[in-house]
Amino acid sequence: MNKRMIYLDNAATTPVLDEVLEEMLPYMSARYGNPSSLHSVGRDAKAALDKARERICNALNMDGSGSMVIFTSGATEANNLAIKGFAYRMLRDGISKDDLMVIASSIEHESVLEPCRALEKEGFNVRYLPVDKDGMLKSESLEHILASSKCKSILVSVMLANNEVGTIQRLKEIAEVAHKYGAFVHSDAAQAIGKVKVDARELAVDMLTISAHKAYGPKGIGALCISKDVRLEPILHGGGHEYGLRSGTQNVPGIVGLGKVAELVPRFIALYQGRVRQLRDRLIKGLLEIPYTRLNGHPEERLANNAHISFLGVNGEDLIIKLDEHGIAVSTGSACSTLKQKESHVLRAMGLSREEINGSLRLTLGIQNDEQDVDYTLEVMADVVRELRRVSPYSKYRS
Ligand SMILES: Cc1ncc(COP(=O)(O)O)c(C=O)c1O
Repeated sequence: MNKRMIYLDNAATTPVLDEVLEEMLPYMSARYGNPSSLHSVGRDAKAALDKARERICNALNMDGSGSMVIFTSGATEANNLAIKGFAYRMLRDGISKDDLMVIASSIEHESVLEPCRALEKEGFNVRYLPVDKDGMLKSESLEHILASSKCKSILVSVMLANNEVGTIQRLKEIAEVAHKYGAFVHSDAAQAIGKVKVDARELAVDMLTISAHKAYGPKGIGALCISKDVRLEPILHGGGHEYGLRSGTQNVPGIVGLGKVAELVPRFIALYQGRVRQLRDRLIKGLLEIPYTRLNGHPEERLANNAHISFLGVNGEDLIIKLDEHGIAVSTGSACSTLKQKESHVLRAMGLSREEINGSLRLTLGIQNDEQDVDYTLEVMADVVRELRRVSPYSKYRS
């Protein structure tokens, strides 16, 4: 990058903070040990892993007795381990596919939905929960499925905060309903960590997924945090690392980075709930002053950095390209589905029209943004939208 970009795609990834990088660097050179080695070089690396696990347990308020932090290559792998690992373990424990069910919300990230679909193909019983127009799940729809189910073993997977529209689920309520029927609860907190309080005990969840790169840490590292009652089957087999649940020599520098992120969580939350929220409100207010726009996602119960807007009569991808020419980086939705170039399943599940989906844009602020970034974006956006509408086939939106 040779010019200064205004980076408003912090839901896709975030820059690594200097403080995080500083802690990681020695583990890429002088402190290179393998944590499985018995000698002092190895024990030094093992101590770094232990420290990171402790920091993560503290950040998530996880019960010290028997809870486990399993390091993975990111949230995608953690979600796969939670879902497939649960289903395969139940099968190994003698529960038949007919007696087993996985329930996920219909707006989960692909890294939850795809393992669910893979299980379906293998003959497992999988159900998807609907959401309302704000992307909020209703616990009654979960209760309806659970009350009529005769399954002996059930996993409910509901994300804490949505990566596209930022809606924050009432997870505690959902977990209470699930537990009433003896189901286990997994939550993908990849987008929530560092922005809202993620308290495993208060939320009463059994498994939590986190990822470092959404919160100023490095890419390629995450964790699945599980309570002592959860039993999983590994999906990666090998030397038996990570309590036998994820084989492979651990990514020590990455883990140190994730641990540092966990330590910084209270500071991040204060920044997001203060300054970033104010910037986000200013951004949303300004964007909604552009004619024929609407805010997507829950108006209040949403991530403090998320502005997801539909600009009618405009194509979201055209907007991205035009804004990029002006030095502003935004996105149409999840970075992962952009690769697949398909319509957002989240917006579809929320009942948005084709036109609202086509014209949607996600702007996600970070702790590095300031008022000038927001004001410049608003100025450019008004011009760019006007320009695109001028050449749009939808003449009714020209101004
Ligand atoms: C909600 C959510 N879950 C999972 C992931 C995947 O995370 P990772 O890149 O760490 O595999 C993402 C990243 O886009 C996400 O937003």
